[in-house]
Amino acid sequence: LANGVARVPPMGWNSWNSFGCNINETLIRQMADAIVASGMRDLGYQYVVVDDCWFNPNRDSAGNLQGDPTRFPSGMRALGDYLHARGLKFGLYQVPVDRTCAQYFGVYPGATGSQGHEAQDARQFAAWGVDYLKYDWCSPNGTIQDQVATFARMRDALAATGRPIVYSINPNSIHAKTGPQRNWGDVANLWRTTEDITNAWDTGQANGYPMGIQNIVNVTVPLADYAGPGGFNDPDMLEVGRGGMSDTEMRSHFALWAMLAAPLIAGNDVRSMTSATQAILKNQDLIAINQDPLALQARQVSGDSSRRVLAKRLANGDVAVALFNQSGATTTIATSAAAIGKTGSSFTLRDAWTGATTSTTGAVTATVPAHGTAVYRVSGGGTAPPASTGTLVSAASGR
Ligand code: GLA
Repeated sequence: LANGVARVPPMGWNSWNSFGCNINETLIRQMADAIVASGMRDLGYQYVVVDDCWFNPNRDSAGNLQGDPTRFPSGMRALGDYLHARGLKFGLYQVPVDRTCAQYFGVYPGATGSQGHEAQDARQFAAWGVDYLKYDWCSPNGTIQDQVATFARMRDALAATGRPIVYSINPNSIHAKTGPQRNWGDVANLWRTTEDITNAWDTGQANGYPMGIQNIVNVTVPLADYAGPGGFNDPDMLEVGRGGMSDTEMRSHFALWAMLAAPLIAGNDVRSMTSATQAILKNQDLIAINQDPLALQARQVSGDSSRRVLAKRLANGDVAVALFNQSGATTTIATSAAAIGKTGSSFTLRDAWTGATTSTTGAVTATVPAHGTAVYRVSGGGTAPPASTGTLVSAASGR
């Protein structure tokens, strides 16, 4: 969406994965302080997104949305001011339809959705200083046409406020669990590609819900054509630092989100991060790959669903390559500079995990542990035109 924001994938933190409905203004402020103190803000984690359950289920007498008076007694504007004073940006969750997901599942009283109130609510968000709206279609009802019309109305209402606001939508409640039914790049800056993520490598559930990391990768890799400046596939928030996965799996999760030009929205309790979690979330090589101004999503250049080679072109002519071992055993994965779009015969590989550099005349190879991902930034030589980056795995027909 050409609304001037999210020219590269947004980075930040969201309350849902760790806290669900157990949120209040003290917690959000503590998290903001920890994002600053940990150095995450200065690495790009700017958007602090308050997810579901922030609201008063009743509008005021003028029909305006209101924050929950018990959880946010200082009001939403004051929270926005607190974040802005610390160099952070303010995100909020809302739904178009009658109830939020938390209400749908009966864990929080319903809010009145924005459908029919788009202009008023967008003005309210702007007045509170909101910089990012997560707009979640939490209903089993509706058609894709209903969604396009409804999401576009809020897009236009946000634009009419004149405030730059990242627009993140989740159309997936009426979808199959196999990816978006259309390219939402004309409607939003971010669109979820799957049902909700969970802190597991593979849920092992036949219906894939909630989604483990590898389920999400399988759905999101073929959608590379949809991504570019201003519009990105959103494979959901990060589960790094939330347990449930090995360090190798967490590193893969972060590396793959970086390569897929996914929003890097941490979901852990940043007040109490282990050093392993910090090393992952603060990996500057991977953040630079994710935030590269060309803003392309990595394409699969070879491999299969168990051993993938993904390549992401970067603005300075370098190409980032990920060797992702989805299988259950250590394996060697190999590609070449030519296969990922480089020309020439002398290259430098910089290992995104260790910072070590090596020289190569073309081979790009790593021994990768089960569920691990090696990432190299390949520099030197020239860069072939995009058509030769390899075979784009095209999105399934009908999307
Ligand atoms: C949906 C979304 C989640 C979260 C919850 C809140 O499930 O996909 O990311 O926002 O709603 O209820």
